[in-house]
Amino acid sequence: MSSSLEILPADDQGLSRAAEILRAGRLVAFPTETVYGLGADARNDHAVARIFDAKGRPRFNPLIVHVQGTEAAKRFVEWSDTADRLASAFWPGPMTLVLPLRAGTGLSPLVTAELPTLAIRVPAHPVGQSLLRAFKGPVAAPSANPSGRISPTSADHVIAGLEHKIDAVVDGGTCDVGLESTILGLSGNPRLLRPGGLPSEAIEAAIGRPLVQHSETDSISAPGQLASHYAPGAKVRLNAEAAQEGEVLLGFGKVTCDLNLSEAGDLIEAAANLFGHLHRLDALEAKTIAVSPIPEHGIGLAINDRLRRAAAPRDV
Ligand code: TXA
Ligand code: MG
Repeated sequence: MSSSLEILPADDQGLSRAAEILRAGRLVAFPTETVYGLGADARNDHAVARIFDAKGRPRFNPLIVHVQGTEAAKRFVEWSDTADRLASAFWPGPMTLVLPLRAGTGLSPLVTAELPTLAIRVPAHPVGQSLLRAFKGPVAAPSANPSGRISPTSADHVIAGLEHKIDAVVDGGTCDVGLESTILGLSGNPRLLRPGGLPSEAIEAAIGRPLVQHSETDSISAPGQLASHYAPGAKVRLNAEAAQEGEVLLGFGKVTCDLNLSEAGDLIEAAANLFGHLHRLDALEAKTIAVSPIPEHGIGLAINDRLRRAAAPRDV
């Protein structure tokens, strides 16, 4: 699509150039606190179509719209008391709300893949925030990786995956959270559509009741949650106590390994390291990446969700 990728600094000049590229209907990758997003003007059909082309993403898989704050979000979706409680508690931050789409928003129908709902989020990263302020409009952005591969937590990851397919990347360093946002469906009882950077426990405390858990057979699950995803080039073996012949070990806690997610056994640190370590181990071209067991609580649930998808059988 584009031959020379512009690498923009995260300063005023870089961000006004990034906003100009978005206004021209082109693609700009930018940092959020979760992962890098691949942004386009959410009101421009051509720009949004370019996202699907660049990622090789199926058109039935809808995108998250990023806005500056709650007031902006209310222009696009039917707001509710639960949405209000969650937005006050966790926005800006690693949480996406799926709510009924309002009529006449001017969003490209490609964004929602013609669903009656819209996924919307207010990112906390100062660079992502500044870009939204400079652009002054809604930005559709999936994670900035080729469809099915590991999500990017640095500008280098974006460049490695999408160099010739996008127009620019704003380099804002490494993402703090390191896992995508938690997605909540709010049509009906609040439902966890994708575990992510904000632990369910915190959400349940804020709304005062348990979330309906998403199940694999659920027809209203996030359409992009296909079994195989986040796949490195290597195979992935889970719950490994030690590396076997031909394997590299991605460790957690006090183990002898090739790379450790967190020697201290800290799940937040492990989440922040997960995708970067997978990218690095993949570059070693081992046949299999073995991974230590990760506790199933807090953000550990989201880490295990991503690891299971990385280990799932692949079509290709
Ligand atoms: O942290 C994040 O959420 C990152 C940053 C860039 O914001 N974005 C991200 O986008 O992870 P993406 O496209 O990689 O994942 C978005 C997920 C997909 O699984 C998609 O199917 C789901 O959100 N989704 C989008 N709109 C939806 C809707 N209306 N209903 C249900 N799921 C939806
Ligand atoms: Mg993604």
